[in-house]
Amino acid sequence: VAVVVGVVGAGQLARMMAQAAIPLGVRLRVLARDEHESAAQVAPEVVVGSPDDLDALRRLAEGVDVVTFDHELVEPDFVRALEAEGVVVRPGAEVIATVVDKRRQREALARLHAPQPLHEPLDSFAQLEGFAAAHGWPVVLKAARGGYDGRGVWVAEDAVAAQLVWDGAVESGVALLVEEHVPIDVEVAVVVARRPGGQTVVYPAVQTVQVEGMLHELVFPPPVAGPIGERAEELARSIAHGIGAVGVLAVELFVSGDRLLVNELAARPHNSGHASIEGNVASQFENHLRAVLDWPLGDTAPAAPAFALVNVVGPADGSDPAVRLPSALSVPGLHPHLYGKAAKPGRKLGHVTAVGDDVAGLLARVRRGAALLHGEGEDWA
Ligand SMILES: Nc1ncnc2c1ncn2[C@@H]1O[C@H](COP(=O)(O)OP(=O)(O)O)[C@@H](O)[C@H]1O
Ligand SMILES: [Mg+2]
Repeated sequence: VAVVVGVVGAGQLARMMAQAAIPLGVRLRVLARDEHESAAQVAPEVVVGSPDDLDALRRLAEGVDVVTFDHELVEPDFVRALEAEGVVVRPGAEVIATVVDKRRQREALARLHAPQPLHEPLDSFAQLEGFAAAHGWPVVLKAARGGYDGRGVWVAEDAVAAQLVWDGAVESGVALLVEEHVPIDVEVAVVVARRPGGQTVVYPAVQTVQVEGMLHELVFPPPVAGPIGERAEELARSIAHGIGAVGVLAVELFVSGDRLLVNELAARPHNSGHASIEGNVASQFENHLRAVLDWPLGDTAPAAPAFALVNVVGPADGSDPAVRLPSALSVPGLHPHLYGKAAKPGRKLGHVTAVGDDVAGLLARVRRGAALLHGEGEDWA
């Protein structure tokens, strides 16, 4: 009888888990909103339903070895209900409840004495003004829940801008937190995979470059001194242990002068780990499956001295980058990953990776590949 892993959600993360599941002989069952979703196109089993519907979650969970996640936008009480019914859910409800809410992430990080930006959960606009008076403008405002790819993050330069964000949040019933605006030199990310018993493997830190809050490029090795990367890796390991993560935990960090600050956590495979498919011996998707199944974990060592990745995002003209793939494939050594999602301006539709010896050359290649996919290829002769 095949081992079956149920995944809440059917986006690109579940799709890449399905790819990693094949050589492991694992059957993936995804909970998809409809059969056109990214992972629903490729998973051997698809349950159509909403993660907001406990009965849909029960249909996903029936007979599986373990339930895990493509996204954390699920009601922690529903996860608790599944656990109470005997379903093995990894990571469990407590970890989901922590990561689903940026305010709870910050509380958990404070308990673990992890360094982080100055921050406060907000109950009133007066409190926001008090924070800015104490720490200066601009401030960063964040939706506690539901944000991703920079949606739900606002930099407010002054009280007028902050008031607009505050009013919008009150109107839509979104809880906010405020953070100091960190002068970031470099953003790095560390992916960790942890088994229920505590065995943990850590991927080497990578640099991530965000554009308008969305990951745009990723580079290994990161342009930071060795000890900073090692501190980031140790920090990620201890956070995974401290919150009891199981499966992949991604830790986003800011390097600011000699400060290393934790930005946020994701308790699932993460965009900052996508280059591990070609760039590390075992990918984050393989290690996520191995970890949630409580199987021995794979080697996180880099498979080459360097790698680079660029995300493929829907162009402003609404065209589909997939139609331009053949021209992008003229770039030597380019590894394409298209997610099978409908093209919309600004939507994450795929990524390209290149692996080799020299970061600058690899970055030029993936940028060229992404530009060709984006339809900006004419300038690149
Ligand atoms: N306190 C901060 N100071 C400066 N920049 C920040 C701060 N918080 C977030 N950012 C910028 O915004 C990006 C998105 O914020 P993040 O909290 O990671 O939101 P998301 O959940 O959308 O990824 C970060 O990668 C970083 O570039
Ligand atoms: Mg982020």
